[in-house]
Amino acid sequence: MTQSVLMCRPDHFGIEYEINPWMHVAVEVDHALAAAQWQALYQAYVDLGVSIELATPVNHLPDMVFTANAAVLWDDRAVLSNFHHAERQGEETHWRQELERLGFDVHELPRSLSFEGAGDALFLGDRLFCGYGFRTDRASHRPVARILEVEVVSLELVDPRFYHLDTCFCPLDATNVLAAPDAFAPDSLRLIRELVPNLIEVPTEVATGFACNAMPLGGNVLSSLTVSQIEGPLRAAGYTPIAFPMGEFLKAGGGVRCLSLPLGNRERGRPLDVAQPQERSNNL
Ligand code: ARG
Repeated sequence: MTQSVLMCRPDHFGIEYEINPWMHVAVEVDHALAAAQWQALYQAYVDLGVSIELATPVNHLPDMVFTANAAVLWDDRAVLSNFHHAERQGEETHWRQELERLGFDVHELPRSLSFEGAGDALFLGDRLFCGYGFRTDRASHRPVARILEVEVVSLELVDPRFYHLDTCFCPLDATNVLAAPDAFAPDSLRLIRELVPNLIEVPTEVATGFACNAMPLGGNVLSSLTVSQIEGPLRAAGYTPIAFPMGEFLKAGGGVRCLSLPLGNRERGRPLDVAQPQERSNNL
């Protein structure tokens, strides 16, 4: 079955506002370099056999390039994001159209609940780990769980540099997770240690290079340059890191994972290389 990822060309990417500590409007984006960095990731997916769906970029929605924030997906269901910041709320109607075009059954949360899609919601096996504290409200987790009919684990984020869960937590498969311990409240870190069979701890200074903002794919881990600093533990877990320079997108607080929304195999919105457990349908 074809694996696919939703991406959006950085045609209108830029820093037009500041909604996370990485963003500074005074810092220029090198548009040619951003396009080249994006293209390198796109090409790597193609070379690894992934089919790419492209969302149409929209002028003055510079963060649409970060497709991970469109929605969280499971089976053919999508829970659309309710962006926390007004600056990104204009994206919602476009994401609804894109997801409908792709055949998803698109669900919405009450407007009062902030929720930022796969940026704050990542599957480890059949469990959905959801972040809260900066962009996503904890109160959104239960309705998301109800819509997708999955179990949700809530994790509190405490470091504004790691404002989305996918900046500090990356399930590689049902066993191995990359995570930056310092990004989580003590109770949440305890929960991670309890529920994750093999936690690969990423030092804060490596995670601030967006090493955890990674995409596992066919035994590889595609990420930013700092991923090479955790090569040892990754290889021990059976993975090969592939490092991409993502400097222009880091200026907006995003990296490889933010630029990619796995569409699964259209059966499951799970990470791309997690095998389908035979008994899955019995668990529903
Ligand atoms: N500038 C974007 C924002 O602050 C970056 C989004 C990064 N996306 C992600 N999935 N972490 O919303």
